[in-house]
Amino acid sequence: VRDGNGVKGLAELGLLEVPEMYIQPPEERIEKKDSRAWDMPPIDMSMLNGPEHEKVVNEIVRAAETFGFFLVVNHGVPLELWESLKDAANTFFSLPAENKAVYLTGVSRSAKVKYGTSFAPEKEKILEWRDYISLTYSSDEDALQSWPNQCKEVALEYLKLSSKIVRDIMKILVAKLGVELDDSKFESLIGIKKVNMVYYPVCPNPDLTVGIGRHSDIGIITVLLQDDIGGLYVKVESENDAENEEWLEISPTPGALVINIGNTLEILSNGKYKSAEHRARPSSTKARVSAVMFTMPTAAESIGPFPEMV
Ligand code: SIN
Ligand code: FE2
Repeated sequence: VRDGNGVKGLAELGLLEVPEMYIQPPEERIEKKDSRAWDMPPIDMSMLNGPEHEKVVNEIVRAAETFGFFLVVNHGVPLELWESLKDAANTFFSLPAENKAVYLTGVSRSAKVKYGTSFAPEKEKILEWRDYISLTYSSDEDALQSWPNQCKEVALEYLKLSSKIVRDIMKILVAKLGVELDDSKFESLIGIKKVNMVYYPVCPNPDLTVGIGRHSDIGIITVLLQDDIGGLYVKVESENDAENEEWLEISPTPGALVINIGNTLEILSNGKYKSAEHRARPSSTKARVSAVMFTMPTAAESIGPFPEMV
């Protein structure tokens, strides 16, 4: 990984088994067993502008309060951009190692561009089966200058369109709490935006390793675009037994983006909105890509429940 080859380079060696350092303890492995399917229908964002406005608002609020995850359609991210994002991710990760190595932590000229694997490979004993390039936004100018050529334009376009989705959803969720925020406070709560392009190489043992291990997102709201491979699992509270965790797969739904609530919004809402754990399983036959847009408060914000919620 340190030479820029990434997990993709490792996978392309034609290994018959994942190396020791990618083998997860049994409790972290993702079994592909016949679990209940994720069966929440996608929420139609375009209906926010019509007579069914209130119904859609309630669907969004309900989803945020229960699963903390939901699908949206008619969200304004066109299918062509979707295709270009997948192509851009494939093009970037297919670059020769030396072209990617310039974006490694400690090498990258910009702190806003980071190519890596796992969360903190220096510290983790067990690594994850994925590579990513993380692109933090400060201005259009900076993005077009410092993000990699192979993906900068599409990633920036995705960031802008998904920011609009985050704003629309955040407005609804905040209003439902009875909280009033002025524009500058609202904007600074989602003031840090970044796009991660993630690549999960073909994996010889998907039963033993993870693409990304269980975690919840730290920020406000995340917008996730996945390709048609599948493998994203969300933890739900089991109806009868809170101890017994159940993981449901959010199968790819053509044209649907996945929205999830992050820890910060859970905290702001004093637990009303749920930040759910999720994880991803690699495939044994095909590489998977996703593009994930995160929103977080700027450093100037101190985070605690909205006073109205206490
Ligand atoms: C993530 O949770 O950050 C990525 C999940 C995915 O790629 O589906
Ligand atoms: Fe996540």
